[in-house]
Amino acid sequence: MHATEELRQKLTQRISQLQYGENPHNLYEPIRYIMSLGGKRLRPLLVLLSYQLRGAKVDDIVDIALAVEVFHNFTLMHDDIMDEAPLRRGQPTVHEKWNDTVAILSGDTMLIKAYDLLLQSPPPMLHKVISLFNKTAVEVCEGQQIDMNFESESTVSEADYIEMIRLKTAVLLGYSLQLGGLLSGSDDDNQSKLYEVGEKMGIGFQLMDDYLDVYADQSKFGKQVGGDIIANKKTYLLITALEMATGEARELLEDWLHRQDFDPAAKVAGVRQIYDDIGIPNLIQLKMNYYFDQAFEGIESVEGSPAGKEVLRTFANQLMKRDK
Ligand code: IPE
Ligand code: IPE
Ligand code: MG
Ligand code: MG
Ligand code: MG
Repeated sequence: MHATEELRQKLTQRISQLQYGENPHNLYEPIRYIMSLGGKRLRPLLVLLSYQLRGAKVDDIVDIALAVEVFHNFTLMHDDIMDEAPLRRGQPTVHEKWNDTVAILSGDTMLIKAYDLLLQSPPPMLHKVISLFNKTAVEVCEGQQIDMNFESESTVSEADYIEMIRLKTAVLLGYSLQLGGLLSGSDDDNQSKLYEVGEKMGIGFQLMDDYLDVYADQSKFGKQVGGDIIANKKTYLLITALEMATGEARELLEDWLHRQDFDPAAKVAGVRQIYDDIGIPNLIQLKMNYYFDQAFEGIESVEGSPAGKEVLRTFANQLMKRDK
């Protein structure tokens, strides 16, 4: 049984050894760049935490777990083009440091490298490992397209928002926990329970991501604070504000959403003030707790040693309190 920090060290150590290729240099260097920038390594950690729940030793599956991290970093590389994001993990994004073409092709290559890592799965499990991965990866694309579509829609329901974040973010956390269970030999029923824990956690996690995008301390966050406000992203904060704001606040919010020429800092400050006045930070906290609570309940019913579950619970708790 390993504590989360030990597992993270194993992952970091192995990431530093992974070889992707050499020529052309500007295809492979961005891969090394984004993979070396750090990040929480949340998804491969979930694979390992899930794998060790039933007592299995994690060392054999570190590369398979890293497939999920390589895939995640591929989605970030493309997401940053789509979101016109300047910063990732405190450093320039790949499309800013190089250009869009490089970010598209390096990202594509990372997706393929993720398959290479998954191929290390034991043959009896390989078919399921890949087919579940394929389902998940397509769902992430669906969620990402819906997220982009929502930028130009004037109202989005909470249910549609939750479905969008389930697809773009939560399914990959679900897959990560299921993958650990599958590789450790769990039956289908236990695998489904693990998937659901990850899915609930993932919805809570993306709610927190939306919150931090507005309220994080820029020096810790590593991404551009306020990026979602600038892009009119239909986050939980915005859709709730649109539901609740009345009178002058409502007009002001609509005005910010429709203005073509604006000072980004003024828009971020203006919209954040409206959120503050309505009490959005508290509401999003409640919504996040609602999903994490379901994840914690789910952990009770999965197979695993008390110690293994405790490590998973502690990790989920840290995710709820994160500042980046
Ligand atoms: C960012 O993911 C994208 C989302 C799905 C919210 P993380 O917050 O896990 O990013 P890193 O990998 O730790 O940088
Ligand atoms: C992206 O959501 C989720 C992905 C599938 C990459 P965001 O666009 O909110 O992620 P960040 O905030 O840029 O990390
Ligand atoms: Mg995005
Ligand atoms: Mg983004
Ligand atoms: Mg975000």
